[in-house]
Parts: sequence; structure tokens; C-alpha cells
Amino acid sequence: MAVDLTTVLAGVEFANPVFTASGCAAAGQELDTFTDVTTLGGVVTKSVMRLPRAGRPTPRMAETASGMLNSIGLQGPGIEAFLANDLPWLLERGARPVVSIAGSSVQEYTELAQALRDVDGVALIEVNISCPNVEDRGHVFACHPASAAAVVSAVRRNSRVPVFAKLSPDVTDIVGIAEAVLTAGANGLSLINTMLGLAIDPGSLRPVLGAVTGGLSGPAIKPVALRCVWQVHAAFPDVPIFGIGGVRTGTDALEFLLAGASAVQVGTALFGDPTALPRIMDELGTALDERGLTRPGEIVGRAHRSPLFVAPEGPDPLGDASLRAAG
Ligand code: FUM
Repeated sequence: MAVDLTTVLAGVEFANPVFTASGCAAAGQELDTFTDVTTLGGVVTKSVMRLPRAGRPTPRMAETASGMLNSIGLQGPGIEAFLANDLPWLLERGARPVVSIAGSSVQEYTELAQALRDVDGVALIEVNISCPNVEDRGHVFACHPASAAAVVSAVRRNSRVPVFAKLSPDVTDIVGIAEAVLTAGANGLSLINTMLGLAIDPGSLRPVLGAVTGGLSGPAIKPVALRCVWQVHAAFPDVPIFGIGGVRTGTDALEFLLAGASAVQVGTALFGDPTALPRIMDELGTALDERGLTRPGEIVGRAHRSPLFVAPEGPDPLGDASLRAAG
């Protein structure tokens, strides 16, 4: 195959555009027993907070139609243990860590960024301002442009590597939130986090999740994620975007690139198939090759530019010479 999957995000080069999504592979160690994590674009770690955190009450996961709800609640070991154990393992293994951070105040995000500032090997920081599973909805900073900007500005000022802001789809105007965090200094965006949802158990007559609500992920949210990537790329075509939401196949990844993402993150698919990532990479390479492309960058945002067409002899989606504009 003549395809070179190398991908550059905010000036940082990665071997390919397929990453884990935060929260779905912890810090990569368990996943590495199924998939060599050094072959991935990168490992986006579970969002780490300043202190250890137990998370929300169980049950914390529920299967839904074409998706999954989780209400983990940012369970984790805290930044000190992460820096002592998880990050060194990833670096010694030779993986590319994208460290996801979460906090409940601008000060907490600032301290997390400062703790990471002098650690060599962190490829990017992903600022998770959109976890839906916090007790106080006021802490979903991504729902308010000023709060989102305050967090991102603090992290940007205290970081040496590019900063990506992870946004929520649970807003009226995601382009407005994107504009706020980009103005505050974000170098890229991760679109999208899960959507706030609810499952009811008709047997117990109660919500399934201990926390009542949870974040919906998986194929059920892929059209929403594609729409968000599309809208934000249309407004900010030069901003690198991670497309996240229901990626299970190389074709899904291709669709996110066409909408304007430069790379994708895969999460929920890993629960059913922890070997999905290399398959998705291969399928994406084949999909690009079949369309006569040699690099993922050639197709980023292409759906915004391709004319509507009727192919005279079967589909030829990128061969402009054979396209007949549909008018
Ligand atoms: O509940 C959780 O830990 C999920 C976090 C997130 O979606 O950002």
C-alpha cells in the first residue's frame, strides 16, 4: 500500500491518525496485552485529577441501543500516582501519550498543567472540560464559553506542549464554545465527549445507573459527532480536530476526516473488541488507497469541498475527471 498514515497535529507528528479515546483504555497497560500500543497514533489517557478519586456509585455502565452509558465519575489515582506509575510505563514502552486532565476549578487545572510541564515525552495535553458525570453541572466548563476559556487559558499558560480542549455536544452552539477556547489559546479540539443520557430498568422501575444519568457513547452518537466536527471545521478550517464518537471501522474514521477531523479517537469499540485499533488503521489505509490518496491529510475536510455528483459508471468519489455535477 502506498499510503503514508503519518499525521501532524498542532505541529506534533504521529505515526498515524488513530488514537485511543480517554477513559476507554486507562493508561494503556491492559490494552497493550491485545494491541501493541506503540503502533497507535497515541494513547489518550484516562482524565487525571489532582487527587485520587473513587468516582460515582455503581452500577456505572449500561448497554443501550447502538451505544453505552457510563457514569464512572472521573475515578482515578490522582496526578502524583499517575506521574509515578502510569506515565513512566507509557514512556518506557515507547508509546505517544496524550495526557487528559480534569478538574473542578481553574486552579486545579492550573496545578495539573504545572505538574506536567516539565515531564518530557508528553505529546499533547487534552483538557477535559466536558465530562458529563460530575455532581455539579456547573463544573461542565465546556457548557459555558467564559468558563471554558478560563480553564483553557490557564492550562495554555502553564504548558509547553500543544493543548487540545475536549468539548461537549450538550450545547446549543458548539462553534461558539470552540471560538472561546481557541481565542483562549487552545491549539486544537477534541470533538466530542459523551452526551448526557439516561436508562431506566423496567424491572426495578428505577434508573439503571447509580448516578442516574451517564454519558452516551458509541455508534448512537456518531452522527452528532460528525455534525460537530463539520460545523467547527467549517468555522475554523485550520484548527486540528480529533473526531470522537462511534468510530468502529476505517470507514468511520474516513468519514470523520472528510468532515474535518485530522485524527480520530476510538473508545467504546474497544470494550467489544480490544484489537480494533490496528484493524481500523489498516482499514483506513485501504480506504485512502482505494481513493487514490497517499496521506490522511489529503482528505481532511474534503466533504466540504466535493461537489454533489452523479457518477456515470459507478462510484468514483474523488476522481474529479469522472464527476458530473448534479447541479
Ligand atoms: O465519568 C467519567 O469518568 C467520564 C469522563 C468523561 O466522559 O470525560
